[in-house]
Amino acid sequence: MASVTLALSKGRIFEETLPLLDAAGIRPAEDPETSRKLILGTNRADLRLILVRAADVPTYVQYGAADLGVAGRDLLVEQGGQGLYQPLDLGIARCRMVVAVPDGFDYAAAVKQGARLRVATKYIATAREHFAAKGMHVDLIKLYGSMELAPLVGLADAIVDLVDTGGTLKANRLKAVEEILAVSSRLIVNPASLKLKRATLAPLIEALAKASARAAHG
Ligand code: ATP
Ligand code: PRP
Repeated sequence: MASVTLALSKGRIFEETLPLLDAAGIRPAEDPETSRKLILGTNRADLRLILVRAADVPTYVQYGAADLGVAGRDLLVEQGGQGLYQPLDLGIARCRMVVAVPDGFDYAAAVKQGARLRVATKYIATAREHFAAKGMHVDLIKLYGSMELAPLVGLADAIVDLVDTGGTLKANRLKAVEEILAVSSRLIVNPASLKLKRATLAPLIEALAKASARAAHG
C-alpha cells in the first residue's frame, strides 16, 4: 500500500476533522495540543498527519508534500486553489466571510455616495474582487489577524473577516453589512497523488464522504 500524508491545521480544523477521521477508522497516535510533534502517526501504518498553519495547507498539497489536506474555502478562494482537486465539502468549520463596520456607521449611505473606504483584511484578493464587482473604490490594508480591532482604532472604516456566532463583532461594537462567501472546509487532494496512490486515496475519500454526509444528517 502507498503511504499517504494528510495536512491539517491545529485547533478548529484538527478538532472538527477528528470525528470524520474516527468514523473512517483513523485515529491519530498523539494529541497535537499536548505533543510538539509536527508529524503524527495514526493507527494505520499507511497514513500520517502533518500539522501546518491553516493558510499553508493548500501549499503543502499543491507541491505534493502532502497528498491531501483540509482547508477552509476562505483560503482556497483567496489563494486561487490552483493545482488542487477538491472532491468534498466536509461541512466543518462553517462560517461566513462578511464586510463589517462599526455599529454607528451608515455603510449603505457611504456606498451610495461613492465614498472611498479603507478596508482592513487578511483576504486581500477576495476583498478586491468583491468591491470591484460592486464598482466601489477601496484602499485595502493587509492584516494577519484581529481584524475587528482596525475600525476601533482608526486604522480602517471597514473590515472583511469571518463571522460565525457574531460574538466577536458584537463584543467590538461592529455589525456585518454584506456577505461575501459562505465558508466551510474542503478536502483538497494533489491530482498526481490521486493518480499514483488511487488504491489508498480513493477509499479514504469515499470513507470521508460517508462520514461527512452522516454528520450532516445528524
Ligand atoms: P492561524 O491560527 O494559523 O493564524 P487561522 O486563525 O486562520 O490561522 P483557524 O482559526 O484555525 O486558523 O481557522 C482555520 C479555518 O477555520 C479558517 O480558514 C476558516 O475556514 C475556519 N474558521 C475560522 N474562524 C472560524 C469561526 N469562527 N467559526 C468557524 N470556522 C472558522
Ligand atoms: C475567527 C474570526 C473571527 C471570529 C469569528 O477568529 O477571525 O474573529 O473567529 O467568530 P464568532 O463570530 O463566532 O465570534 P478565531 O477565533 O479563529 O481567532 P483568530 O483567527 O484571531 O486566532
